[in-house]
Amino acid sequence: MGVIETRNVTYTYPGAAKPSIVDVSLNIEKGEFTLITGPSGCGKTTICRCFNGLIPHFYQGEMKGETIVAGLNVSEHPIYELAKHVGLVFQNPENQLFALSVEKDVAFGLENLGVPREEMRKRVDWALNLTEMYDLRERAPSELSGGQQQRVAIASVLAMQPEVVILDEPTSFLDPLSAKKIFEVIRDLNRKLGITVVLVEHRLDLTARYADHIIVMDEGKVALDGDPHEILRSEEARLIGIGIPKATRLYQILKKDGLKLGNTIPLSSEEMASMLTEALKDG
Ligand SMILES: Nc1ncnc2c1ncn2[C@@H]1O[C@H](COP(=O)(O)OP(=O)(O)O)[C@@H](O)[C@H]1O
Ligand SMILES: [Mg+2]
Repeated sequence: MGVIETRNVTYTYPGAAKPSIVDVSLNIEKGEFTLITGPSGCGKTTICRCFNGLIPHFYQGEMKGETIVAGLNVSEHPIYELAKHVGLVFQNPENQLFALSVEKDVAFGLENLGVPREEMRKRVDWALNLTEMYDLRERAPSELSGGQQQRVAIASVLAMQPEVVILDEPTSFLDPLSAKKIFEVIRDLNRKLGITVVLVEHRLDLTARYADHIIVMDEGKVALDGDPHEILRSEEARLIGIGIPKATRLYQILKKDGLKLGNTIPLSSEEMASMLTEALKDG
């Protein structure tokens, strides 16, 4: 059994005419880096709300099926208990930040867990350094830019060091270079600390290279689920209209034109570049 498993989850928000997610069954293994993508409004945020118990505890409405996270059925455990295992970074950081200073915000969750002072200080500084927010630790979150607030929201979740970190378009307010830095931090947490990462993101150009597993959603359903290389080369992915990385598209065009390229499809410009170097050497 995976660290996140949903079985036939269908969920309708209160008063909505139809469900926002329909019969979603998926499995995410411990230690994986999973990317969830798909067109706007397809249900990505809604499924994330199931992973940490916001659905069904905070959002009422009607839920069918089951979500099991870290061995816990989310319907049977309160949000604060699930939060020890799963951290969620929201799309809109202002919904997550409320303390008087950046460092207090980052410390908040740890205080609730009863982490000792000394350990708390260490973890807060560690998370602030990783996200490059240490110098702004005494500022009020409300005075920060959207991008800086996103970093604080990420630091708050990282400080908790949960087994699973879910990030719902965590860099939507950041420019591509800052976003890349954040994605690299997330990748390191996954690789070095073994934290299971679920990243919701439509900019696959920036993120596909990190993924072990891709789930593509469309109109509330899981449309594709599996290996990133297989999925990104598929006709279905193109038809759903997800942002296939430029390197992947270029590969497909060059291959069609008869250039002799290896069979592993590139997911990043760096992979494409080394592939071309090889091809040109041989040619
Ligand atoms: N709090 C809510 N109340 C009612 N409907 C919602 C709420 N949040 C999202 N929805 C609806 O659920 C559907 C899926 O939304 P969402 O999960 O936010 O998609 P995505 O994150 O992929 O853009 C959309 O039709 C959206 O309007
Ligand atoms: Mg969303």
